Amino acid sequence: MTAATKICEYQPGLEGIPATKSSISYVDGTKGIIEYRGIPLEQLAKKSSFLETAYLLIWGQLPNETQLEEFATEVRFHRRIKYRIRDMMKCFPETGHPMDALQTSAAALGLFYSRRALDDPEYIRKAVVRLIAKIPTMVAAFHQMHLGHDPIQPHDSLDYAANFLYMLTEKRPHALEAKIFDVCLTLHAEHTINTSTFSAMVTASTLTDPYAVVASAVGTLAGPLHGGANEEVLSMLEEIGLIDNVLPYVEECIAHKKKIMGFGHRVYKVKDPRAKILQELAQQLLNEKGCDKYYDLALELEKVVEDKLGVKGIYPNVDFYSGLVYRKLGIPRKLFTPIFAIARVAGWLAHWKEQLAVNRIFRPTQVYTGEHNAPYIPMAER
Ligand code: ACO
Repeated sequence: MTAATKICEYQPGLEGIPATKSSISYVDGTKGIIEYRGIPLEQLAKKSSFLETAYLLIWGQLPNETQLEEFATEVRFHRRIKYRIRDMMKCFPETGHPMDALQTSAAALGLFYSRRALDDPEYIRKAVVRLIAKIPTMVAAFHQMHLGHDPIQPHDSLDYAANFLYMLTEKRPHALEAKIFDVCLTLHAEHTINTSTFSAMVTASTLTDPYAVVASAVGTLAGPLHGGANEEVLSMLEEIGLIDNVLPYVEECIAHKKKIMGFGHRVYKVKDPRAKILQELAQQLLNEKGCDKYYDLALELEKVVEDKLGVKGIYPNVDFYSGLVYRKLGIPRKLFTPIFAIARVAGWLAHWKEQLAVNRIFRPTQVYTGEHNAPYIPMAER
């Protein structure tokens, strides 16, 4: 028996098992605290921008003015995608989910930038810039193709968040909309060793290329128990339809052990601090753009779920209000999870870079529950 098997018992979902040491972010799920590199996320949401936060996560400290300007300029320069990638995307079925399109396109970047030099800081910097720059363009391009249009080229005069919104509509977004969208990206940029980050780290531990690392994380984020929940929250609110239906809906879910989307978290046993900020952003947008019946439904749902499931530590998670914010920004539902990916690329790359410095291949063990020395039964006797 090795040291590891002696101290660890099998835990479904690896709950509570440390799988890495990291100085990138910190979460206290009972106090509702989240920090990126030690800085409370609330501060970053108020004072920083997504690109500045991405720099902080990946390089470990806030950039000075010149560093941020250089990073932003380089990202802006690398936003366009190769026409061969666009042509490849045109062959995807328009009915496919944008997360599948994104996973395939992210992996395809590895075909074009295939020099794998993981000990070269310049290679690492270029890969970071390319992925942060090109992922939004790929998401927007597939969206346009899905609508039967040609992709809208990035707009050089627009910053990161505004440019993404522009590529969806060919209209310059209102400054408040761009600002709120940028804060959403900051809020989703990193969250310790969550499922997609773990997936990125497992893939990275083989020393494969960063495009494969991000592609594997995108595939993991797509599931409804992880990033996919934000789409399902809106479907659920539509299904509920009326305030009077909220209580019966929740009772029905509890009776049939059905998960209420946008609630519950492996780590948080209180309301997710990101949900609090997103709720404030939703409120700001409502003040600007007028009320939304789904927001009222969401408030009632939160009240009823807290009443029925608060004792179990089930409160809104990050996905509960993000869909409502995106809806108010006019973003189509199928893009909610890809937007999560646009933001989380920063966290995935921060963990990739951190792990490269101390890499050891992930190779856990298992508890075997099968037979031993079983007979081989000839085909005719089965
Ligand atoms: N609705 C109702 N009950 C819930 C919910 C929920 N959303 N979440 C957890 N519970 C209950 C479970 O039924 C279980 O009750 P029991 O002990 O009586 O059987 C208990 O709380 C523990 O639930 P688990 O599923 O074991 O918790 P786990 O930590 O494995 O799962 C997860 C966490 C996957 C997020 C879960 O809460 C869930 O499925 N939520 C809905 C989907 C969702 O919103 N996902 C987004 C998460 S945030 C993110 O990934 C970005």
